[in-house]
Amino acid sequence: MELLITAGLLSITAVATPFPKDLQPISTAGPEDSRLFPSFQGLVSDNDTQRLGLDYQRMIRINRMLYIAARLIWRSKDVGKCTVRGKNTDECYNYIKVLVQRNDETLFTCGTNAFNPTCRNYRLSSLEQVGAELVGQARCPFESHQANVGIFASGHFYSATMSDFQASDAVIYRSLGGEGSPVLRSVKYDSKWLRAFFFFSFLAILYTESVVYSRVARVCKNDSGGSARVLERYWTSFLKARLNCSIPGDSFFYFDVLQSVSGIIQINQRPAVVGVFTTQINSIPGSAVCGFYMDEMERVFQGRFKEQKGTDSAWSSVPEEQVPKPR
Ligand SMILES: *[C@@H]1O[C@H](CO)[C@@H](O)[C@H](O)[C@H]1NC(C)=O
Ligand SMILES: *[C@@H]1O[C@H](CO)[C@@H](O)[C@H](O)[C@H]1NC(C)=O
Ligand SMILES: *[C@@H]1O[C@H](CO)[C@@H](O)[C@H](O)[C@H]1NC(C)=O
Repeated sequence: MELLITAGLLSITAVATPFPKDLQPISTAGPEDSRLFPSFQGLVSDNDTQRLGLDYQRMIRINRMLYIAARLIWRSKDVGKCTVRGKNTDECYNYIKVLVQRNDETLFTCGTNAFNPTCRNYRLSSLEQVGAELVGQARCPFESHQANVGIFASGHFYSATMSDFQASDAVIYRSLGGEGSPVLRSVKYDSKWLRAFFFFSFLAILYTESVVYSRVARVCKNDSGGSARVLERYWTSFLKARLNCSIPGDSFFYFDVLQSVSGIIQINQRPAVVGVFTTQINSIPGSAVCGFYMDEMERVFQGRFKEQKGTDSAWSSVPEEQVPKPR
């Protein structure tokens, strides 16, 4: 639990010299208080682990059981190969980056597996492995520090992650839907689709540019991809919108860097999400919490439609009659 508390404190610390002035926190807990609580530290005997703090990766509660995913020593030939690839050897382990419930009986997990992402299914009740291992590429990042998301919805696995060793190909991917259901992805190496931070359904963070904007993107569950002529195996329903977390004034002050986002909660009896935002890394330090109603986000996706004519051109509004249908 200590890790969670510490993360909470960090975001409060970030507000130390803020502009605009922040409200006082309602309450804070320092390390002297949080030490009283039990904490999970993973492989304490291992010095690398303590230094990196990377053991702990994922935690979910299913019914009355808490599942915690940490770094595994998932010995395989891949670990031997890993050290020769010129990357940090701390990554030559298996960091579990995906831990989700697949159905009533199964837990689905993927790990970095020494730069060879791999997934497995486990029986929820006994944690026995079910079936064979699966390729983890596009479902799980190659390195432990990269943010990602995975979620099952209507039998499909949706993932947002870097999908290559060089971490140059950010993807939103849908797979495991069974026969007759095509695997879909976002356009390869086209960071315009995924530029900067991105939260997908509830959380996915991808990071590329030095100026960061935060966006929410949406794909439709019944998207079956384009035709053989255009966008085959790619999303046809991908839309994105900017998350505007700002303070009005003579000119708006923006908190553009999304650090974390909640699941759906109720605010004023309306479904909403809240996110913690900070300013750009080399700008005046500041942070803010902004909330977004789901129905308002939905309305934005039905609202004014912008397009980009070429990869280098600016985004421009499309007249109503020229908006593609479906969008
Ligand atoms: C961990 O590091 C400490 C010093 O930082 C050293 O004394 C100890 O032997 C190391 N333990 C292992 C298991 O390597
Ligand atoms: C997907 O669902 C939406 C909303 O229910 C519907 O408008 C659209 O036609 C469907 N598209 C496909 C390709 O089935
Ligand atoms: C952000 O929201 C404010 C308040 O609604 C609006 O005035 C401003 O134009 C928005 N900024 C962008 C970039 O959309």
